[in-house]
Amino acid sequence: MTSDFAISKRAAAIKPSATLAVSAKAAELRAAGKEVLSFAAGEPDFKPPTAVREAVAKASLEEPIHYAPVPGTPALRDAVAEELGAFHQRAFARGEVLVSCGAKHSLANLFLAALDPGDAVVVGAPYWVSYPAMVGLAGGVPVTVSTSRATGWKLTPEALEPVLGPKTRFVILNSPSNPTGAGYSKSELRALGEVVARKTPQAWIVTDDIYRNLVYDGFEATSAFVAMQGVTDRIIAIDGVSKTYAMTGHRVGFMAGPSTLISAASRIQSQTTSGAATLSQKAAVAALTDPSVSAEVDAMRTAFARRRGLILEGLAAAPGVEVEKPDGAFYVFADVSRHVAGTAKHDTDIELATWLLEEALVATVPGTPFGAPGHLRLSYATDDASIEEGCRRVAKALKSLPTA
Ligand SMILES: Cc1ncc(COP(=O)(O)O)c(C=O)c1O
Repeated sequence: MTSDFAISKRAAAIKPSATLAVSAKAAELRAAGKEVLSFAAGEPDFKPPTAVREAVAKASLEEPIHYAPVPGTPALRDAVAEELGAFHQRAFARGEVLVSCGAKHSLANLFLAALDPGDAVVVGAPYWVSYPAMVGLAGGVPVTVSTSRATGWKLTPEALEPVLGPKTRFVILNSPSNPTGAGYSKSELRALGEVVARKTPQAWIVTDDIYRNLVYDGFEATSAFVAMQGVTDRIIAIDGVSKTYAMTGHRVGFMAGPSTLISAASRIQSQTTSGAATLSQKAAVAALTDPSVSAEVDAMRTAFARRRGLILEGLAAAPGVEVEKPDGAFYVFADVSRHVAGTAKHDTDIELATWLLEEALVATVPGTPFGAPGHLRLSYATDDASIEEGCRRVAKALKSLPTA
């Protein structure tokens, strides 16, 4: 077919995913029979809980699979309202909840429903790669604020204040974070809420809590509503079942916020995707309400906690790699700047990640697309043996390199 096809300015402005190059290379090596170990996964390697799989099987065998209502089935919206109500210690009406095809879709709907050209959305770097891209697609302007290992990869009021201004519409908080695993304490969240409310009273906080149940060593994710009580309730909650219940492929996420936003986002959803998949919504109801699920989530959390220990131990043997212990999610964010500067062999983390894949047969994700050059994200959502062997390979490969 002819390639003479003009794409829109909107599509042209979307950068190709830098992580795709590594994934494509990994697939190529695997196809050539190489045993590639992957630290690249952005999803749990487990099956969804038993009750979830049973709910899908039963509905699929016994019921017609019709369109679901656009904003979500009443059963799921009510289950979400209850779940988020318990976490945020605040009542949500059904009309304040919108179910979408993943939390990514919830965020896309939010930005499309709320942003006008030039509206600014503030996010700390390193950030989840999709935030700036989605803001840009909706006509907004992503404003990134660098954070560092010194502040535990967290925004501080001092760093946030200078970028807040009349155009600020949203400040995104993601705790625990992708890609760093860093989680905010209650007082840290409150301090951020205070500066946003004081300097930009028109702005809203977007709290992306998708990893809130995957936390370790006694760290507890705090709700922004709870932390910012008496400071601001201009908060929109983004959440979903993908990570907690190992349900990424079901594509169910949700947003809770003011009913005007929910109706506008629902109208957008009605003209683009319609409601989330009927079977997946049934699966999500089971995840949120079946009493047997929590024990299986506990088992996943225990496995992740063990793997976090294994990867930290394994990377400690790798020269020129500095890692903070993450509070949650299933990633470590490794500072490899000594391998990509000065006399080092590689100039960028993207080159280093490509070399690690080719030489050590280990897939990692470079930090540059997350807004943090000189780093690699390693996911420990993989089995213990692969983590141990993968770290051995990384350590051996890096030992052979000159560092800055
Ligand atoms: C920080 C963050 N938010 C939201 C999502 C979206 O998840 P989903 O669309 O599967 O619900 C992800 C997925 O990687 C994520 O890392």
